[in-house]
Amino acid sequence: MGKGKRGEENNNGKKVIIAIIVIILIAGIIFGVTKLVKKSGTQNQQEAQNPNISQGRDVTGNTYELKGKTLIAYFSRTGNTSTIASLINRKIGGDIFKIQPKELYSYNYDEALERMKKEKDQNARPEIQNKVENMDEYDVIFLGYPVWLDTIPMIINTFLETYNLEGKTIVPFCTDSEAGAHNSVEDIQKAEPNAKVLSAYAIRGSNVGEESTKESVDLWIESTQKQLEE
Ligand SMILES: Cc1cc2nc3c(=O)[nH]c(=O)nc-3n(C[C@H](O)[C@H](O)[C@H](O)COP(=O)(O)O)c2cc1C
Repeated sequence: MGKGKRGEENNNGKKVIIAIIVIILIAGIIFGVTKLVKKSGTQNQQEAQNPNISQGRDVTGNTYELKGKTLIAYFSRTGNTSTIASLINRKIGGDIFKIQPKELYSYNYDEALERMKKEKDQNARPEIQNKVENMDEYDVIFLGYPVWLDTIPMIINTFLETYNLEGKTIVPFCTDSEAGAHNSVEDIQKAEPNAKVLSAYAIRGSNVGEESTKESVDLWIESTQKQLEE
């Protein structure tokens, strides 16, 4: 009888300890969630107070700020240039805009090449199906493209001619088969004589998936930051 009572007391004691542990755990979770919500509120407030600062994260996970409101606009047929656009976005934040042709370029290389040759011969302006509605708000435009026939695809000319980019800074980035910008930067400057066009980041399309690419994009952006401050 006495043994049974002691057993019951023991059980009750265990229940009390478990209840205390559960209460402590719940309190901990509530405290953590409240802290997180407060932190993101402060971040939003900071962004609202500094609309000219674009924020992103670099490979080390640190936040990185670039002066001026930033747009990352790019055209990509097979995804190489779009990978670089995502890496830039991860580093600096900013808004991203994919230039979408009204008539898609074939995934078949020969067909795409034939179309580009024709467009270049005719100095054509292939139509774009989407538009940046608030272009006036941006100070810096990262402009990405694959090098086609040693220069920008003709659709990049369409993009440049759609907006008044006077006084803005254009930061070109491109992918190709040889890791060179070829004549693309000069051709962007010709199309936008009143914009400041910086030197381009160029990388071989076949290298964009490599781990080292993230770091090389980060380093390039850091050097761009210096040019933006000049
Ligand atoms: C029509 C066409 C023309 C190209 N011309 C060149 C060129 O002149 N020089 C070069 O190095 N690569 C050239 N390339 C290769 C692309 O620039 C390269 O594959 C690029 O990384 C593709 O980028 P994307 O995946 O963003 O479309 C050409 C590709 C196509 C489809």
